[in-house]
Amino acid sequence: MSKHYTVGVIPGDGTGPEVVAEGLKALEAAGRKHAITFDFKRYDLGGEAYLRDGTLLPESVIRELRDTDAIFLGAIGHPDVKPGILEREVLLKLRFELDLYINLRPVVLHPGVDTPLKGKRPEDIDFVVVRENSEGMYAGGGGFFKKGTADEVAIQESVNTRKGVERCIRYAFEYSRKRNKGKHVTLCAKTNVLIYESDLWFRVFQDVAKDFPDIDTGYQHVDALCMWMIKNPEQFDVIVTGNLFGDIITDIGAIIQGGLGIAAGGNIHPGQSAMFEPIGGSAPKYTGQNKINPMAAIGSAQMLLEYLGEDKAADDVFQAIRKVLSQDLKSLEAGRMGYTTSEVGDLVARYILD
Ligand code: IPM
Ligand code: MN
Repeated sequence: MSKHYTVGVIPGDGTGPEVVAEGLKALEAAGRKHAITFDFKRYDLGGEAYLRDGTLLPESVIRELRDTDAIFLGAIGHPDVKPGILEREVLLKLRFELDLYINLRPVVLHPGVDTPLKGKRPEDIDFVVVRENSEGMYAGGGGFFKKGTADEVAIQESVNTRKGVERCIRYAFEYSRKRNKGKHVTLCAKTNVLIYESDLWFRVFQDVAKDFPDIDTGYQHVDALCMWMIKNPEQFDVIVTGNLFGDIITDIGAIIQGGLGIAAGGNIHPGQSAMFEPIGGSAPKYTGQNKINPMAAIGSAQMLLEYLGEDKAADDVFQAIRKVLSQDLKSLEAGRMGYTTSEVGDLVARYILD
């Protein structure tokens, strides 16, 4: 019997539509091979839609997306829209409204890909960052006082609920168990300065750890962890952290696995529809040129399949990605790959079906 899924597709801005097309190609190829069919429901959101008629993220779209099996997003961000509007009102709103409380960001150096880290090989860089995705500094609390005067005060609050922290940490432990690689979870926080929020994270971490006697634990302050990600990434299996620290350290994660052209991520609420996206932005200068690297989007498609429980299909996409990276691509950089965006997608699709 063939399986059928509804996937909400938000190509978005800049090179988003180009890379999404290649991600969908991979989904379709894997679907053909494994008797999976998809209904792709497209949503025109992002900078163009906003500039055209003020559309950001309508309630009706949120409702429809809730009913999908998964969501596939390209990129949100437009050079003609003031920074912050699209990010907050579309991307972050999707994460918050759908309560996608996990941002899962694997950091994997594939064979054949260059890392800026001297002497590090693929076996040294293979871990996952579990970033809290629904609160922290991103909750947006705070305000101005005496704005625009010499006495101006700006307060930016970080919201950390026991429930929010616990569900995130619990997910990290479960993920480490399921991954079955290092069976180790590192908490990344800043207990020496953030004496309230990091204290809560630390206590909850210790409590949750008791339920996972098979998983080892470690703690690092965020600043030290940034250093260790570069010096000794092989020590990590799963890193769990708050929203802002997770945002920052996953940019390090992206670059050590070869750059934004390859970094994929998932916004997840277990049991509900989840949203998968390449971590790189909309890359406006490459828009429409068929030059951008679609691998991060294809990796997001692979994560989407894994999330749907289509492990065989996901593995086929994973192996195809590996093959293209190790045999075909000259570089991960836009315009230097030796292939166009769509040719890379064609190669992946061909390897999936081989
Ligand atoms: C990311 C991005 C977003 C974030 C921005 C675009 C709001 O940097 O997904 O990492 O800060 O979460
Ligand atoms: Mn970021």
